[in-house]
Amino acid sequence: MKAVSHTAKDRCLNARHKLAVRTEPNPAPLLIPQALATALMRLYDYPDPRRSGRLIRGYDRPHALRTARMCGAVALRLGHQPDRLVSYQIACLLHDLGRAGLDRRLFGRIWSWAKRRGVPTRPREWRAAHPETPYGRETEAFLARYKDQLESDGIRMDGWAKEQVEMRLGYARRLARRLRAVKPSLKRLGVPWSPWMGLVMLYYYYPEKLSGVPRWVHQLAEVLVACEQFEAYNNRRRGQDYYARTQETLEEAFAYLEKLRVEGVLTETVMYALYALAAEGSFDSLLAEARGAALTSRELRYLRGLTPGAVSCR
Ligand SMILES: [Fe+2]
Repeated sequence: MKAVSHTAKDRCLNARHKLAVRTEPNPAPLLIPQALATALMRLYDYPDPRRSGRLIRGYDRPHALRTARMCGAVALRLGHQPDRLVSYQIACLLHDLGRAGLDRRLFGRIWSWAKRRGVPTRPREWRAAHPETPYGRETEAFLARYKDQLESDGIRMDGWAKEQVEMRLGYARRLARRLRAVKPSLKRLGVPWSPWMGLVMLYYYYPEKLSGVPRWVHQLAEVLVACEQFEAYNNRRRGQDYYARTQETLEEAFAYLEKLRVEGVLTETVMYALYALAAEGSFDSLLAEARGAALTSRELRYLRGLTPGAVSCR
């Protein structure tokens, strides 16, 4: 890919320059036809195993759409080629496919139970806390350790509950299953699939799976993590359902991205591009949509006052 620049200083200059010349009518557009995006979103629907003939509507659809639009804008800013961007945005639209069938109530009960007890909820966190767990067997390890406690706390751990565990701790396995299941639909829709598209979806939970990939794949994976977390931190519905959050704040969202940068999950380059676009107002309407309410004037001032590179170019 064409790198934007090679030094932090160049990156600062580059983004400042681009701040002044933004002219696009929609700064974070869908790069594929709306009809295709709608068809892809239907792939998140999942047959309800408890009631035959009923579909569980994909919980993550609006999050996926907003994330994909942000990702397209950031990737474009970073200089990725337009033809690659189309495939990338399709991957971003499907990045949470491994959670198709998410049972909001059950998933929320299991994971808020875990969170209250400090039980790791992501594969990489699980492996850090339990290095003895064989790689890829995090769901099994979680169930072996906590199934009885969950049941005694009133959460019936049947097959469907185990699927909800798999949606987090066995995400790679479940995503691979879902991608296999929707392959004929993708073919029908004329969507060509490349292995890198599946890999970028795994970076947040399994950063180690991307060691050795070309730099452009890694960067696109980082962009997806940055944008999906930025969206999630501003997503009121998710905040209520997943995280028992009562309020979304931009400060918290940026603090989390900064934490990911410090941990080495995100590079300065990616953070910087997201900051610049947010400062320009490219994400205002998507953020308002995620919140379900207009941004306040204080929030808009906060965004406009973001100094691109305040975090990454210091
Ligand atoms: Fe996501």
